[in-house]
Amino acid sequence: MRLWIPFAASAGALLAIASFVGAGWDLPPVASEQIGYRGTGMFHHRDIETEAALKLANVVPEAPWQADPTGDKAGKLYQNVQVLGDLSDDQFNQFMASITAWVAPNEGCNYCHNPENMASDEMYQKVVARRMIQMTQAINVDWKPHVANTGVTCYTCHRGQHIPAAVWSSSLDPKPAGNMTQDRQGQNVASKLAGLTSLPQNALMDYLYGDKPIRVHSTKALPDGTNKAGTKETERTWSLMIHMSESLGVNCVTCHNSRAFNDWDQSPPQRVTAWHGIRMARDLNVNYIDGLSPIFPANRKGPEGDVLKIGCATCHNGVQKPLYGVSMLKDYVDALTKKTNTTVPDYKTYEPGKTQVMGQATTTTPTTTTTETAPAQ
Ligand code: HEC
Ligand code: HEC
Ligand code: HEC
Ligand code: HEC
Repeated sequence: MRLWIPFAASAGALLAIASFVGAGWDLPPVASEQIGYRGTGMFHHRDIETEAALKLANVVPEAPWQADPTGDKAGKLYQNVQVLGDLSDDQFNQFMASITAWVAPNEGCNYCHNPENMASDEMYQKVVARRMIQMTQAINVDWKPHVANTGVTCYTCHRGQHIPAAVWSSSLDPKPAGNMTQDRQGQNVASKLAGLTSLPQNALMDYLYGDKPIRVHSTKALPDGTNKAGTKETERTWSLMIHMSESLGVNCVTCHNSRAFNDWDQSPPQRVTAWHGIRMARDLNVNYIDGLSPIFPANRKGPEGDVLKIGCATCHNGVQKPLYGVSMLKDYVDALTKKTNTTVPDYKTYEPGKTQVMGQATTTTPTTTTTETAPAQ
């Protein structure tokens, strides 16, 4: 027995050293800010060193030039402009230059166009981009309770990359142990979507794609048959909450008074914004991302063949307000702050590489129907 003592002591010392020098551990200085009433223990802690890097990574790019809104409209000048037809020629060209910088800065216009025939929809990227324009317009118009007047552009998600950095899919990878894949309950592996905890691996499928109830809290000490949520449901809620906290670089008290996680009256207003954000993410994944399934090639999809989806981090990228709340919309008012044409072509008929114009006007986007009432702000 005594033989183990020196071993345990040195292992302990090594662990202590590792915890200070190991990767991923935050050293002080940490800035703490009280965000709730005195005595409620509501503090927000910020790692000052990581913050400097975050600030650099979240600078809004300038518009390439100030567009002149007068003159002939793009819908008249070009052959196949279905969504941006009301832009002036100069606004249209400015927008094309901007999306190139936001989505394909190295490839340029030809990432979405055959230069011999700009009007053709033969590149799948162009068909996706047109739908993404409709999606961005819908975010800015329909989801103001979340994005306010700050709104979003393609840059909020793309940041100069073809595929945004923080996306997710239905995949349960790495494979969980035992029969934990049953009923999509993957658990007991370090889950990226749940901040490397061993909480349920992919709760986002339930809550940011499906609309399973998130609330699990009882207000009575003993079970009385009214609250059916058990440990399983609670762990899934928790997993989602970790995803939300990590995505925004905040902790639970940014949205909750931790002595009463359920109580809206004691919660900071950010929780109501987050409530709308959950509904928005569902709408985008179900009505925009999923529908593009026939268009995306297999190598652009997740391991289980679904289009990569939007989570809180896709826009937020580790910051409480994406791009620190700086709006880019003033330069793109006509392109992105109104819904123009909301019709969706029949993507099933699409043949990549063939000179074609994606069918106009078949169905209209279903508007989100919700029977829920938003919590009061
Ligand atoms: C990320 C994809 C993407 C990139 C990159 C892109 N475009 Fe486009 N382009 C589109 C989409 C989508 C449309 C159709 C818009 C609509 O239907 O409202 C379009 C339409 C056009 C048209 C109209 C063609 C016609 O006759 O119908 C022109 C001209 C054009 N783009 C020029 C450019 C130029 C120049 C560049 C590079 C500076 C560029 N585009 C980069 C997606 C892109
Ligand atoms: C809310 C986040 C979000 C916004 C805003 C957004 N996108 Fe996307 N975009 C995505 C996601 C997620 C994918 C990846 C889907 C996949 O690969 O399965 C994607 C993929 C694309 C692709 C396909 C790239 C490729 O190489 O396969 C293009 C093109 C594109 N977006 C253009 C745009 C344009 C143009 C805008 C602005 C009008 C825009 N996006 C706005 C989330 C967004
Ligand atoms: C960005 C805001 C935000 C953050 C951060 C956040 N939550 Fe939540 N939380 C919410 C919202 C919004 C709901 C209600 C969701 C709904 O009803 O659709 C909720 C619900 C809950 C519930 C269920 C309450 C009930 O009525 O049953 C629990 C428990 C919870 N959160 C715990 C946590 C924990 C633990 C953390 C930190 C790991 C956390 N939350 C971080 C916004 C947040
Ligand atoms: C389409 C991009 C996008 C997505 C996806 C998104 N957000 Fe946001 N969010 C924003 C923008 C833009 C703002 C800033 C609004 C403003 O300026 O008031 C914001 C603001 C917030 C705020 C308010 C911050 C504050 O201090 O006032 C919270 C909380 C929040 N988001 C939580 C979430 C959560 C949780 C999710 C995922 C369920 C999410 N967001 C998904 C774009 C997004």
